[in-house]
Amino acid sequence: MDCFVTGTDTDVGKTFVTVALLQALAVRHLQVAALKPLAAGLGRYDEETINEDVALLRRASSVRLPLEVINPYAFQAPTAPHLAAELAGAHINLALIEHAYRRAQSQTQVLLVEGVGGWCLPLNDQQMLCDLVKHLALPVLLIAGIRLGALNHTLLTARAILADGCELLGWVANIVDPTYPYAQATVAALEARIAAPLLGTVPWGEGDTPCAAAHLESLCTLLATPRARAQKVSRDG
Ligand SMILES: Nc1ncnc2c1ncn2[C@@H]1O[C@H](COP(=O)(O)OP(=O)(O)OP(=O)(O)O)[C@@H](O)[C@H]1O
Ligand SMILES: [Mg+2]
Repeated sequence: MDCFVTGTDTDVGKTFVTVALLQALAVRHLQVAALKPLAAGLGRYDEETINEDVALLRRASSVRLPLEVINPYAFQAPTAPHLAAELAGAHINLALIEHAYRRAQSQTQVLLVEGVGGWCLPLNDQQMLCDLVKHLALPVLLIAGIRLGALNHTLLTARAILADGCELLGWVANIVDPTYPYAQATVAALEARIAAPLLGTVPWGEGDTPCAAAHLESLCTLLATPRARAQKVSRDG
C-alpha cells in the first residue's frame, strides 16, 4: 500500500524513517519507491543539482524512477514551498503532482510520499498540503520527533490530520533527542491519547537506517499489503 509521510516538524526524521522503510521493503523483494513532490533547497548530490531528500530517497528506492516523477517541484530557495515557488515565479499545481504519482504507482507495489516540513503547510493561496493528500487519497503516517515539546506537536498534528478529513494510518515515535530522559514516558502518554496505532519506536542510531528498520517490522508488514481499491487516486479530489 502507499502512504503519505508527514512529521511533527521539519527535521524530525521523515526522510530517515522513509529510507529505513524503503530498505526494509526492498529486502522483502517489493518494488518500492519514494516521492518528494515538493522540495526546497538544492545541492550537489550524485553529480546532479537536486534536493538532498530526493537524493536519499532515490538511492534507497528499489525502482528507479525519473527525477521529474520523484520530485516534480524542486525550488532553489530553502524555505516553505509556497514562498520558494513565489520566488521562482512558479505555481504549485496538484494535477502535475498527481500525474507524477500515477506514473510512479504504475511501476511500484509500495509508494511512500514524503511531505515537507510539518502538516499545516500552504501550497499556494488556495490550497494546503492536506489538499494534496486528499487529492491522492493517501493514508497518513505521522513521524513524531520525540523530544521536549513532542506532546504538544504530536497531539496537535494528529488532531489536525483527522480534522482535515484525512486518514491517520498510524504514527512512529522517532527519538530525535537521545539525551531526553522522558522519551519513553512521552511515547506512552501519546499512545494513550492518539486514536491511531503506534507503529514503531525508533531509537537514535547515529544515522544507521538499517538498524532503524528493525524497529519498524509491523509497519513494513502493513505497507507490504497490496493496494486497496480505495487507494487508487481519487479522480474527483
Ligand atoms: N532515529 C534517528 N537516528 C539517527 N539519526 C536520525 C534519526 N532520525 C533522524 N535522524 C537524523 O536527523 C536529521 C534530520 O532527519 P530527517 O532529514 O530525516 O528529517 P525530516 O523530517 O525529513 O526533515 P525535512 O523537513 O528537512 O524533510 C538527519 O540528519 C537524519 O539522518
Ligand atoms: Mg526530509
